[in-house]
Amino acid sequence: MDPREFEQTLVLIKPDALKNSLTGYVLSQLSEFHTGLRFAGAKIVHVSRMLAEEHYAEHRGKVFFQSLLDYIMGCSHYPDEPWKRRVIALVYQGHHAIQKIRAISGPTNPHEARVKKPGCIRALGTVVPIKDAAGTVLDERMDNLIHASATVADAEREIKLWFKPSDIPPLMRAYPTEISQEHYYFKENKLLLQHEPESVCLLAPGNVAWASDLAVLRAIASGKTPSATLQSVVAKYLINEDVRYY
Ligand code: CDP
Ligand code: MG
Repeated sequence: MDPREFEQTLVLIKPDALKNSLTGYVLSQLSEFHTGLRFAGAKIVHVSRMLAEEHYAEHRGKVFFQSLLDYIMGCSHYPDEPWKRRVIALVYQGHHAIQKIRAISGPTNPHEARVKKPGCIRALGTVVPIKDAAGTVLDERMDNLIHASATVADAEREIKLWFKPSDIPPLMRAYPTEISQEHYYFKENKLLLQHEPESVCLLAPGNVAWASDLAVLRAIASGKTPSATLQSVVAKYLINEDVRYY
């Protein structure tokens, strides 16, 4: 089997696509018939602030960052209906998966998408001004319906951020996994090695985890500097868990 067949990419069908009932349209644009790509993972996610901040970490500090968090968390499109705040997270696998889905998605800015690439998914999006309290326009929020990983490195980081290995069929996992030998718990933004009341169990001995996540947990547990944040490991374990984690 050609290893390029195993290239994976993360797709998020964003809250504006769900609100505008464009989910079926997006999925058919990305179907195996059109793209030659296969599903490797799929879930409906109520996006926590932790997950949103980790996903868009590269944009922290930018003018549009807070609006972007509100958008991906569904707060912009469902201000009064929190139960409708969802995204659909998907992993697609196949030859040139990253580049193919970026191409079908189109340019980030929907106005530009309509001009430069009519027919792309983001051409159906919209642009909303971001204003300060006085009404001055500070920037634009781009409601562009879909997220798609931009590079091989982004795809790996993003798939591991949104998906546990056990969310993906064993023979479709693209990144090294390892079996945890320890218990790991999380409470009040801290890693614990033993259960305490109100803590959530991330991993128990025998559970499969991304090898890179276990390396981060071990580093933190032994007081070393981890190669990624604790939140980037934990966020996926809190997806759709108890409401107090949101
Ligand atoms: O999503 P993509 O990789 O094409 O673009 P990005 O530059 O990484 O930005 C991430 C997301 O932030 C975009 O998809 C937009 O939804 C949003 N964005 C925004 O709302 N306003 C901007 N001025 C720039 C980006
Ligand atoms: Mg990007």
